[in-house]
Amino acid sequence: MERLEQLPAFRSVSIRRTALPTSDWIDVSTLCFDEAAFTPAHFAEAGMPCPDSIARSVRKRQAEFFFGRLAARRAIERAGVDRAVAQADIGIGASREPLWPRNVVGSISHTAGIAAAVVASSQAYGGIGIDVEQIVSASTRPAVLEMALNGAEVHMLQACPGPMSLDEKVTLVFSAKESLFKAAFGSVRRYFDFSAARLSSIDPDSGRLALTLVEHLNEEFTLGRCCELSFTRLDGGTILTICAFRPRPGSAAVELASRSLHSRLHSA
Ligand SMILES: CC(C)(COP(=O)(O)OP(=O)(O)OC[C@H]1O[C@@H](n2cnc3c(N)ncnc32)[C@H](O)[C@@H]1OP(=O)(O)O)[C@@H](O)C(=O)NCCC(=O)NCCS
Repeated sequence: MERLEQLPAFRSVSIRRTALPTSDWIDVSTLCFDEAAFTPAHFAEAGMPCPDSIARSVRKRQAEFFFGRLAARRAIERAGVDRAVAQADIGIGASREPLWPRNVVGSISHTAGIAAAVVASSQAYGGIGIDVEQIVSASTRPAVLEMALNGAEVHMLQACPGPMSLDEKVTLVFSAKESLFKAAFGSVRRYFDFSAARLSSIDPDSGRLALTLVEHLNEEFTLGRCCELSFTRLDGGTILTICAFRPRPGSAAVELASRSLHSRLHSA
């Protein structure tokens, strides 16, 4: 990690403190990179294993995987997790989900030379999802609308006052649904479509948005559940959304957190 600046494809790094709908703050680790300057030698340089599936993929995919994992490592270090955990390999699950070290939840996203990652303690959060998305253009808008939004959602966006363009708002809803998917996947454990959640409110001033589940996904993500997200604009026409869920009452993580609080209170 000390040699990050020496990696030929590296451009810049930042930590962005971002508000969550839970009123907490979280550090989003972002890295900008130049895909054209990436070579597979970056993996060895950073001491990061290159999975076979990535070694066989195209250069663009190798670069986004590499910088996504690098952003995740930085986020883990920033979260104060011990160095051995921070350097641990973040594997690839059967549904492509990142396999985080023990007691850590997190999420990775990448788009057009930007990689972003967030992590949190699994005692504080049951699931977290992040998405960075380039604002749609006239040529990409129809495909995004077709895939991710229904007519009622588009009407709601058109009626929503404020400085954001319709393309920004469409991108935002698409991105929010992807963040929700990533945050909920650890619990739901299966694919669910964009039609499973509907936009219920959007507030460009506060950077908040809510999606309501219109399908029962599992006992945690039930029909009618309201899922709140935060969003912000990054430089260069990119939108970032974050979704985070507290651990489910009665889950192992909650019991662990309350045991640790109990022991702290009693040792004080
Ligand atoms: C999985 C998916 C959300 C990834 O989003 P994307 O815009 O293609 O790509 P991003 O760069 O934002 O995110 C990719 C990262 O998501 C993470 N990811 C992939 N599958 C995941 C899963 N099942 N659960 C959690 N995270 C996952 C990975 O870290 C991946 O990066 P990596 O492969 O380099 O590790 C998307 O491809 C998808 O399948 N969407 C359909 C499901 C959906 O969004 N439904 C909406 C429900 S309301």
